[in-house]
Amino acid sequence: MYTLGIESSCDETSCAVLSGYRVLSNATISSLSEHKKYGGVVPEIATRAHLKNINKVLEGALEEAGVALKNIGLVAVTNRPGLIGALVVGTSFAQAMSMALSRPLVGVNHLHAHLFAPFLNSRGPKFPFIGLVVSGGHTEIYRVDDFDRIKIIGRTRDDACGEVYDKVARAFGLGYPGGPILDRRFDPELKDVFKFKCGRMGMDLSFSGIKTAVIYKKMELEKSGSLCPAVVAGLLSSFQESVVTAIVAAVADAVVATGIKRVVCGGGVVANSYLRAKLAGLPSDIKMLLSERVYSTDNAAIVAGLGFYMYNKKGVKTGINLKVEAN
Ligand code: KG4
Ligand code: ZN
Repeated sequence: MYTLGIESSCDETSCAVLSGYRVLSNATISSLSEHKKYGGVVPEIATRAHLKNINKVLEGALEEAGVALKNIGLVAVTNRPGLIGALVVGTSFAQAMSMALSRPLVGVNHLHAHLFAPFLNSRGPKFPFIGLVVSGGHTEIYRVDDFDRIKIIGRTRDDACGEVYDKVARAFGLGYPGGPILDRRFDPELKDVFKFKCGRMGMDLSFSGIKTAVIYKKMELEKSGSLCPAVVAGLLSSFQESVVTAIVAAVADAVVATGIKRVVCGGGVVANSYLRAKLAGLPSDIKMLLSERVYSTDNAAIVAGLGFYMYNKKGVKTGINLKVEAN
């Protein structure tokens, strides 16, 4: 069966075509460049960009997959969480497709879709697993017994991890989004120059303190005239060291607390090279499934994959009156 996936929760307009779990196409247009000068995603701009681009993205996805629209068997769409206006564009589009084609519609939770990334192009998911989602809007750890039995066992108590990457990069005037920029600038030799620490409360995390600490340290060094490029590199590398250390420690604790030795990681920050290396370096009896970089940031292939799983294995059909939810 061919599944059409649609994703529009933030600044990526994306459509994908899957055959079972096999990705035939995953077309995305990002409105990122339009947000850059504001240092973050502007919901109104993102919504208009989705409206402008969604037809083009659908055409691209169908063409690349070599599948005619009439042969689509299932429509899956992100209907939560995300920017409301942005979600409305994708969801209305999906509703229209489902009605026009007389095909079932499945609404998908975008965060859970991030956890489907490692199962794309595979025979499907295996349970139970510990799920880690680290993105621009969320940082959560789950116990996943199935995709309809997901329990949050840890989360950030304040800022999301990607959000903090973005804010620190902005404070250093490095551009947006900050994650990939700080990833490239990371120098392992400088990771211990400054001693920053993220908050840990059980399996919960806190990132807002470290964000403030790094920004204040920068201001202090600037005032004293000692903020040279080498010091900036030390600040940024030490920042990343403490963020990654905290996340990896929380995941290790989740494994110990639950006895579940399979870990699945997804979300934009999982594209980070140092985080990937550290997660992969956990004891070898932990089976670590990391989303491929191309499926880490927002895209419709993960939405189609999870939508197909829910329909095919769980009999989920959302119906045409699908609601959107910000949280
Ligand atoms: O999952 P995603 O594409 O969108 C949300 O659902 O939020 O995640 C976007 C976030 C941004 O904050 C971005 O800075 C971060 O993922 N990100 C990274 C990297 N690539 C993207 N953070 C750290 N290292 C990266 N390589
Ligand atoms: Zn996301």
